[in-house]
Amino acid sequence: MTDARRVLGAAPNGQPQTGPGEPILRAVNLNKSYFLGEVIYAVDDVSLAIDKGEFIVIVGPSGCGKTTLLSLLGGLDRPNSGEVLLAGQRYSRLNENGLAQLRRNQVGFVFQFFNLISHLTALENVSLPLRFTRMSRRAVRERAEQLLDMVGLGQRASHLPLQMSGGEQQRVAIARALANSPAVVLADEPTGNLDSKTKNEMADLFLRLNEEFNQTFVVVSHDEGFARFAHRVLHMRDGKIDKVEAGGR
Ligand SMILES: Nc1ncnc2c1ncn2[C@@H]1O[C@H](COP(=O)(O)OP(=O)(O)O)[C@@H](O)[C@H]1O
Ligand SMILES: [Mg+2]
Repeated sequence: MTDARRVLGAAPNGQPQTGPGEPILRAVNLNKSYFLGEVIYAVDDVSLAIDKGEFIVIVGPSGCGKTTLLSLLGGLDRPNSGEVLLAGQRYSRLNENGLAQLRRNQVGFVFQFFNLISHLTALENVSLPLRFTRMSRRAVRERAEQLLDMVGLGQRASHLPLQMSGGEQQRVAIARALANSPAVVLADEPTGNLDSKTKNEMADLFLRLNEEFNQTFVVVSHDEGFARFAHRVLHMRDGKIDKVEAGGR
């Protein structure tokens, strides 16, 4: 396997700079409500601060606001009130274009259903976020190959998503999420669609990326595998973080 440190070190955008002691990701009094006949407070006055290199796991019953919170943290959605700061950038000061750029360069997303583009090969899927950079085609290709190597899929570069198992597809999605060396990787039930052996392998891969590269993770998952590796486990209920536990590290 390629030396992953070298791969992540070759970031086209570089790691964002924050002041000493400044959390990489911060949410301040975040609120998001929906009107469904009555007002639903999907995220209800949530504040949190996540340090670079932290591995955060979020748990809580269905409908408690986990996905909504991740969407706000990743700039996929805007809050009704409150603020998110990633590497010192305030989302409220960014227009839609600025926010799209931030999502592309600073946030890695991993979803339950992989969300790969079905007519593109593994290599092309991983290359996609790099096409928006100034890297040459050759450099893009080399980096995408290294990323696939890093997740153990060097041999699958030319396969289409449907030619791969669920676990392999999720590895491609992780390689894609890491392509721009994001400040944070946000994963929403990344193993929700995988069998238990593959779940454990996935948790091991996340742990390795966290330990070796100090990659910051926020993972919504009930898998014990993730909680064991977490620095903190945030319990959500009715849109609020109602308990914070030390994880297994
Ligand atoms: N786009 C939306 N429109 C209306 N209500 C929504 C929307 N997204 C989420 N909700 C509501 O917000 C609450 C939290 O949802 P969600 O964040 O998906 O919870 P979880 O991921 O914890 O299952 C739920 O009551 C859900 O029905
Ligand atoms: Mg959800």
